[in-house]
Amino acid sequence: MSQQTADLAIETAGLVKTFGATRAVDGVDLAVPAGTVYGVLGPNGAGKTTTVKMLATLLRPDAGEAHVFGRDVVREADEVRGRVSLTGQYASVDEDLTGMENLVLLGRLLGHGKKGARARGERLLAAFGLAEAAGRQVKHYSGGMRRRLDIAASILNTPDLLFLDEPTTGLDPRSRNQVWEIVRAVVAQGTTVLLTTQYLDEADRLASRIAVIDRGRVIAEGTKGELKASVGAGSVHLRLRDPAQRPRAAEVLRRTLGAAVQEEPDPVALTARLGAAAGDDGAAGQAARALGELAATGITVDDFSLGQPSLDEVFLALTGHGTHDSEEVAA
Ligand SMILES: Nc1ncnc2c1ncn2[C@@H]1O[C@H](COP(=O)(O)OP(=O)(O)OP(=O)(O)O)[C@@H](O)[C@H]1O
Ligand SMILES: [Mg+2]
Repeated sequence: MSQQTADLAIETAGLVKTFGATRAVDGVDLAVPAGTVYGVLGPNGAGKTTTVKMLATLLRPDAGEAHVFGRDVVREADEVRGRVSLTGQYASVDEDLTGMENLVLLGRLLGHGKKGARARGERLLAAFGLAEAAGRQVKHYSGGMRRRLDIAASILNTPDLLFLDEPTTGLDPRSRNQVWEIVRAVVAQGTTVLLTTQYLDEADRLASRIAVIDRGRVIAEGTKGELKASVGAGSVHLRLRDPAQRPRAAEVLRRTLGAAVQEEPDPVALTARLGAAAGDDGAAGQAARALGELAATGITVDDFSLGQPSLDEVFLALTGHGTHDSEEVAA
């Protein structure tokens, strides 16, 4: 094992998985440093779950290699299994059992004694804000509660590597925040996390490095900063008090931001796409300057928001096509 390999939680080379005519994973190279959150960002059908399943030894690759902590996922599958845990896109807990019963059952399967499993279950339920729901059947949990229970179940034994496959898809903002807090706490304990997501803002908040995948291939990889430098820093959305001021506002935005400005169908709305240059003093800094300039020009702004690029915008910048094209291929 090379020194480099020892510091990597995951290393893959030319990983391939095909289903019939679909090349679900089509030559993926990944290098995931240990002790970090690594984001895998991609639209529906990009190959995220298939990649995760191969790394978690649930699917056998058709070609290429994958090592987890230096162990081959095919030849040394047992060693890999002993160090990883997977929280699937589709929850694995038993609907008819209570939250506590689920954790105790899984704890016993993992070899804990009755008392130990119960104690660990209690601690996790409390930590994840589920103490009150501990005695309730999971089928009566909300989506956010279920997802939290699912993550709790996957860290009953602290894994060295945790796969979180779209842990927040379909959750409301408050539940998403709770899951993000859990992920941060898990990483603080020394666990490496591979997180798949369809949200750039989620990858941005949690991950130190991000791989963007499309149609089974890695189309961009790097730190968040590097990724944003190549796709732009986001958009400024404005609503003005007076539609008559819109042409002048657009002019001010073009001048101060050096950005493409789009007039929306709503006669008082404007959107300015911030370029990569926004990285210099930050998107918020640029937006603040633009607002100051608008005020100085006597233009009244009723509503203002600064948004990160959407996954669609990321894909447009990186591939020249939007995310929906991937789905068509997947279909
Ligand atoms: N068991 C299977 N049999 C046939 N095709 C499959 C199977 N699993 C996945 N695929 C196909 O492989 C491609 C990649 O699927 P995968 O589930 O890995 O994507 P994903 O990135 O996880 O998407 P999503 O965001 O929708 O979860 C898709 O075209 C999918 O239809
Ligand atoms: Mg998936």
